[in-house]
Amino acid sequence: MSDTKQQLEKLLANCVLELATADEEGLRNIEVRLLGRKGEVNRLLAAMGSLESAGRAALGEAVNAAKAEFAGAIAHRRRALANELSAELGENDWIDVTEPGTVAPAGHKHPTNTAIEEMSALFERIGFRRARYGEAEFDHYAFGVLNMPKDHPARDDWETFFLDAPENKKWGKQVLTPHTSNAQGHEMERRRPPIRMVSFGKTYRRQSDVTHLVMFHQFEGLVIDKGINLTHLRGTLDHFAKGYFGADRKTRLRPHHFKFTEPSFEVDISCGLCNGTGRVANGTSCRVCKSGWLELGGAGMVHPNVLRAGGVDPRLFSGFAFGWGVERTMMMAAGMRIPDIRLIYNNDLHFLNQF
Ligand code: FA5
Repeated sequence: MSDTKQQLEKLLANCVLELATADEEGLRNIEVRLLGRKGEVNRLLAAMGSLESAGRAALGEAVNAAKAEFAGAIAHRRRALANELSAELGENDWIDVTEPGTVAPAGHKHPTNTAIEEMSALFERIGFRRARYGEAEFDHYAFGVLNMPKDHPARDDWETFFLDAPENKKWGKQVLTPHTSNAQGHEMERRRPPIRMVSFGKTYRRQSDVTHLVMFHQFEGLVIDKGINLTHLRGTLDHFAKGYFGADRKTRLRPHHFKFTEPSFEVDISCGLCNGTGRVANGTSCRVCKSGWLELGGAGMVHPNVLRAGGVDPRLFSGFAFGWGVERTMMMAAGMRIPDIRLIYNNDLHFLNQF
């Protein structure tokens, strides 16, 4: 009992000392330490259980008296702090209680999200259904279904990340999908023609420079129906390019080779940074395009082997597909003067707040 009394006296003396200089935060700390649920007062009260009843009553009285003293001293300091604050305000100072509080800065959508919404709306307007397929994918969907046999050198073009995950007997290894073309096999498995879908997704490759990111987005378009031909592909890409870039920008199709389309093309847009001249103001070569054109995506007529692998009869149906880079497309939009694609994900607010 006398031990506990001594402890209480010591606590009280320390408390008075600390309170003399405590600010509002210090006050709260002292309050929690002494009077909180796991504080000193409750710790002493818990120890009462081991005493016989006469000692217990005396101790209870002493602890409760100390508790009241602590609470009183804390309240006293709190009043003193409030008085100090009002004393600091001079005769002509006043507080405008109607003034609105500080508004926390609100964020906004990342420019990539906004771009995806705008791009998607252009395709939805001409009847494309939006779909989404995974970014961790089996070899079968990323390559196999797309007419790229195992160990075919064309797979090297995609500089793929392989996942440290179990291989599936039927579908092979798992990868971070290097293109959204994995959507083609899934879509044909899930739906019968007519198919008209656009799928946006994250894609990954081991590449990084002014026009390449390690993680970027692509959108994949797939149309399969009776009588689909190249003019439908050209018309669709023109609709998108005019809608997204404006009527004055030029697009061109360059013959190319993809294992999953025949014929295949790459689609270029006249560069928005150098107005298609390949040169910037001081006469040096444009860092982004170097030639006046920037490649935005690939496209072509779906290869009969891909249709067959998806369970679609190429004698009855034909189709076209395209796969474009979202960030590349967005950096070429009117008014977007982005000189290095990596700026998009540096998370620098000076950059992001412009959009
Ligand atoms: C493909 O990925 C094909 N799957 C496209 C395709 C789909 C062709 C359907 C035919 C039919 P490619 O590797 O060229 O193709 O990439 C397409 C676009 O993605 C590029 O034009 C570019 O805009 C974008 N892209 C590719 N790699 C990167 C990267 N590392 N960083 C940013 N954008 C990239």
